[in-house]
Amino acid sequence: MSLEKAAFGVRENAYAPYSQFKVGAAIRAANGTVFAGCNVENIAYPEGTCAEAGAIAAMVAAGETRLTEVFVVADSPVPVTPCGGCRQKLAEFGAGDVPVTLCNLDGVRQEMTLADLLPGAFGKDHLAEGHGDRD
Ligand code: THU
Repeated sequence: MSLEKAAFGVRENAYAPYSQFKVGAAIRAANGTVFAGCNVENIAYPEGTCAEAGAIAAMVAAGETRLTEVFVVADSPVPVTPCGGCRQKLAEFGAGDVPVTLCNLDGVRQEMTLADLLPGAFGKDHLAEGHGDRD
């Protein structure tokens, strides 16, 4: 399935009764599989989760830990951009050159990369030796 179709489709299922702002995100894992997520809000507002976080959780739950492509859609006047926390979450699993497409319901698109979204990302190179090693 295309990332666009997955993101637009999952957006319909977003649970956003407080903001009324539904977001859909789709990511392609290194093995080619597409994972999708939507925002899930909560009456205890800080407990809500973003669409990107949902897509990442689905990918990791399926045993994949690298992503190669990202697509995010929302009904925003200009293409939605991931929040700061989600930029860091995406950077955990994707390289700086991973293409990111941001899109609104009018079909306006913005193309960028993970490095564009989070320049100077905090990464394992910043930790002292022995910390932050992946297994
Ligand atoms: N939101 C996302 O899910 N992803 C984004 O990229 C931007 C913001 C959600 C969080 C909250 O449920 C709603 O949009 C309004 O901030």
